[in-house]
Amino acid sequence: MARWLVILGLCLLFPTAFAQQSPGGAPAAAGSCVACHGPEGQGSGAYPHLVGLGEAYIRRQLDAFASGERANAIMKPIASGLSESQRQAVAAYFSGLSPVPADAAAGAPPDGPGRTLALHGRWQQDLPACVQCHGPGGQGIGEDFPPLAGQPAAYLEDQLKAWRAGNRPAGPQGLMGHIAERLDEDDLKAVAAYFAALPAAGEAGDD
Ligand code: HEC
Ligand code: HEC
Repeated sequence: MARWLVILGLCLLFPTAFAQQSPGGAPAAAGSCVACHGPEGQGSGAYPHLVGLGEAYIRRQLDAFASGERANAIMKPIASGLSESQRQAVAAYFSGLSPVPADAAAGAPPDGPGRTLALHGRWQQDLPACVQCHGPGGQGIGEDFPPLAGQPAAYLEDQLKAWRAGNRPAGPQGLMGHIAERLDEDDLKAVAAYFAALPAAGEAGDD
């Protein structure tokens, strides 16, 4: 009996640690997310995937949705309905899900201007290649640089427009604000289509 009380006490003290370790141990607050973001955080339809996003990144987005700095009518009430510790717990949970590594050979992303921008940038405009920060194949790097591969094209395009319109905080060091303002309408469409066509981590592998 006492042992269970200790375990219960630890769970209450360190909810995120337990949420990450136990399979099926999703924090209760994550239950409502899956309707739109999929049971494995893999996204569905127009809803972005959460798997592969870093903990700090997810936490920052939830805070920004809640404050309205990142303007979104759907996510605002959801994020504001979560307490600080629930935001932390769901961020830890979704970032802790491990995607199956994507098979790089599986994707056949479109050739053209989107690909050039993604892989080479446009140096005459001081525009670095997207993959420099978002990783080879747009798979994301670490806590702060989210994956772009496999996110819905309309979603990616909307985010770039949101930065240009000041509807989303520019993130660490204002990086994306500076980048988005150098992209014109054609660029947005092309580069969004390119990353959307790449296999997301977890999509290409079968097992
Ligand atoms: C009713 C559908 C719906 C539900 C339920 C929902 N979301 Fe979302 N979520 C969205 C939409 C739509 C977006 C895209 C918002 C945008 O375009 O900025 C989004 C975006 C996000 C993002 C940003 C992803 C990124 O790549 O920047 C995070 C993080 C997120 N949701 C977390 C959650 C969590 C955690 C929950 C559960 C507590 C949740 N969502 C529940 C619809 C939903
Ligand atoms: C110098 C580093 C850097 C470069 C280069 C860069 N990004 Fe980003 N990008 C970031 C960071 C950091 C974030 C996370 C911003 C935040 O925390 O809100 C981000 C986020 C994004 C997101 C939002 C993803 C999501 O899940 O909501 C999109 C879309 C995006 N970048 C597109 C691009 C495109 C397209 C390019 C190339 C034209 C590019 N980025 C180049 C640093 C970079």
